Amino acid sequence: MDKLLVQRSGPVQGACTVNGAKNAVLPIMAACLLSPEPSVIERVPRVTDVLTMLEILRRLGVGATLVGDRLTIEPGRFAGTLASYELVSRMRASICVLGPLLARQGKAQVAMPGGCVIGSRPVDLHVKGLQALGAKIAIEHGYLVASAPRLQGAKISLGGTHGSSVLATGNVMMAASLADGVTIIEQAACEPEVVDLAHCLIQMGARIEGHGSPVVRVEGVRGLRGARYRIIPDRIEAGTLLIAAALMGGEVMVEGARADHLGAVIDKLAEANVSIEKLNGALRIKAGEPIQAVDVTTLPYPGFPTDLQAPMMALLAVARGTSVLTEKVYPDRFMHVAELNRMGASIVRQGATAIVKGVGRLSGAPVVGSDLRAAAALLLAGLAAEHQTELQGIEHLQRGYQNLEEQLVRLGARIRRVRAGRS
Ligand code: UD1
Repeated sequence: MDKLLVQRSGPVQGACTVNGAKNAVLPIMAACLLSPEPSVIERVPRVTDVLTMLEILRRLGVGATLVGDRLTIEPGRFAGTLASYELVSRMRASICVLGPLLARQGKAQVAMPGGCVIGSRPVDLHVKGLQALGAKIAIEHGYLVASAPRLQGAKISLGGTHGSSVLATGNVMMAASLADGVTIIEQAACEPEVVDLAHCLIQMGARIEGHGSPVVRVEGVRGLRGARYRIIPDRIEAGTLLIAAALMGGEVMVEGARADHLGAVIDKLAEANVSIEKLNGALRIKAGEPIQAVDVTTLPYPGFPTDLQAPMMALLAVARGTSVLTEKVYPDRFMHVAELNRMGASIVRQGATAIVKGVGRLSGAPVVGSDLRAAAALLLAGLAAEHQTELQGIEHLQRGYQNLEEQLVRLGARIRRVRAGRS
């Protein structure tokens, strides 16, 4: 596996451009199964998770090609109903084919995703939502085996122990689009990626109202057209770039970053002494003042996103004062704590909370990223650490960031990739 050698960097200057949102494109690719007509999706990030979803579609018998950032999906009368364990175990988001397969084929077999390094990740809300629409779902040999000759609109509440569920809301919205009658989803997720999926479905001919609020109304239609759709910019990638700039200091323009999707993040960065200017279609960050400690609690949107908890922790590790970081979405998402401490950070975890005592400077070390956002956090920490950080586990970065390393290097970060087998 390749690794990255990261040196203390900055101050930096320049501009970078945010790619399309991974978490928006994955369910939208699944949504394309709802119509026999071809769909064209633009601003598709070339990340491993998208390639895994392409493989899932192809194994269902669906034509799918990605050229540049333009994806063409040609379902026609595809026959497949199976998402295998081999693919689902690579990417949990594979579960979002469940709703479209049920709606289009009347049946589906999707491997149970199981847990992952960020903790236990159940699928009960997906099952509950689709059962309410009339699906029969059983667990057989590690697979969710679902059938529904006809889906029927219903009133469904999708609130779980840790709030709403992004992909369960997506799954129910997609299935309900082709169900008989009206579906009301209560405690729906309000994330911009859910709204993007709704916009794409509406463009395909679906009748959806209330998306972006906790109550979504879907009136089923007989059929949908192919989609012509452009994905929103990735707010998590944008946030990662803002935090990287805050760590390195200097002035950076993050093109495509949408202030309306990043309210809680901009707020917390401002509190930490980082100035962010909202421009038309971009955010300009000016950093250089000492970072101040801030308390952060992750919550469903519009709260601070769990996907930026680890990068934010890297920033707060070098802040003045003590920060309290509480994880309300994935209470076990703290794999990066031990690695940050190996770099000289002073972080103590207590249940779903991490107490981060700011240290003036981190010290480079060999570290391993255990998941996508943990790997990003360690890369960012390396940019503010003395001497060299050797980051392994960078295959996780490629699951969700198209070119984070190149973007940072272009800004002036000192990062070198060592190819596997070389030194
Ligand atoms: C999506 C994002 C992921 C992000 C997460 C929370 C994609 C591809 N991934 O994941 O990057 O971190 O939202 O913003 O969009 N839960 C249940 N039962 C369920 C489903 C979820 O209890 O059936 C729990 C989860 O364990 C978690 C919480 O609900 O504690 C939120 O999870 P959810 O919103 O479903 O995450 P995903 O949609 O899988």
